[in-house]
Amino acid sequence: MSLQEQLETLEKETLQQIDNATDLDALNQIRVQTLGKKGPITEVLRGMKDLAPEERPKVGSFANQVRDTLTQQIEEKKAVLETEALNQALAAESIDVTLPGKQIPQGTRHILNKIIEEIEDIFVGMGYQIIEGSEVEQDYYNFERMNIPKNHPARDMQDTFYISDELLIRTHTSPVQARTMETHDFSKGPLRMISPGKVFRRDTDDATHSHQFHQIEGLVVDKHITMGDLKGTLEVLMKKMFGENREVRLRPSYFPFTEPSVEADVSCFKCGGKGCNVCKNTGWIEILGSGMVHPDVLEMSGIDSREYTGFAFGLGPDRIAMLRYGVNDIRSFYLNDTRFIDQFKGE
Ligand code: DAH
Repeated sequence: MSLQEQLETLEKETLQQIDNATDLDALNQIRVQTLGKKGPITEVLRGMKDLAPEERPKVGSFANQVRDTLTQQIEEKKAVLETEALNQALAAESIDVTLPGKQIPQGTRHILNKIIEEIEDIFVGMGYQIIEGSEVEQDYYNFERMNIPKNHPARDMQDTFYISDELLIRTHTSPVQARTMETHDFSKGPLRMISPGKVFRRDTDDATHSHQFHQIEGLVVDKHITMGDLKGTLEVLMKKMFGENREVRLRPSYFPFTEPSVEADVSCFKCGGKGCNVCKNTGWIEILGSGMVHPDVLEMSGIDSREYTGFAFGLGPDRIAMLRYGVNDIRSFYLNDTRFIDQFKGE
């Protein structure tokens, strides 16, 4: 078979193959096999050196023509197969716009944070600053500066987690009192602050106790501050939180850092004082501890207790949230179970 005939056969066979190809892979295979460096056309062109010189241009140009025809046919078939593949993919991927969408769960504020922010708003409205204390505290500020020296029995109630002999995670927010008093510049005005935050105790966890809970510390120091100011302030707080008809009652108590010390009760917001399950039939709900800042606590912070007086209080937002939202187990706040918190969405 002459070279010319070989090329004609090759062209015919390859065109048939191209026609038969059903996918892009097969087509590519054909291209590599016929037009590639090791393919038959290259082979023919290589064999030209054995031809008579006058034959060469004829065969050469025919070989080129065959190559061009095949290249073009492959390109055309490729376009057809690509369109087919695309149409198939589109048909398979068609979107059903009537399917329901994916639900993206939306969170909500924790009720504890809601209570804390509500209390912050009330006090900011009365000119208080919000001070952030640190959860890791020195024994010195947590106890000694609050008039609870080493070996004082009041430490027993506030046993906690010690990092070293002198460093602990705070048992109450009261150390923020000492830290704020010692830096406050009274020439710029009275000291009025609240400090919300986490506190820690070695408590046995049960429905009303958790080794971690929250407190909001309050402190006002100025000239002529009296217990009347304390009671009036607590009344404003309770009326704003639990309704205009609430009353506040003070009962004598003891804290090492206040003198006199009181426990404050609010008249029951559910029964109005008649007695019910929320107030355990007493008509009153115990809400916080407070008192007049002990002169020694003022003096330890460098404040002259003959000139300045103050009141302080410490309230528990966990307890307030439990009362407000009818939560009967404090541990629910800390379980990270979204089903719990979702119940209060939109409150
Ligand atoms: N620190 C006290 C406690 O954790 C609560 C407290 C009582 C804070 C009386 C006060 C206060 O500021 O005046 O038990």
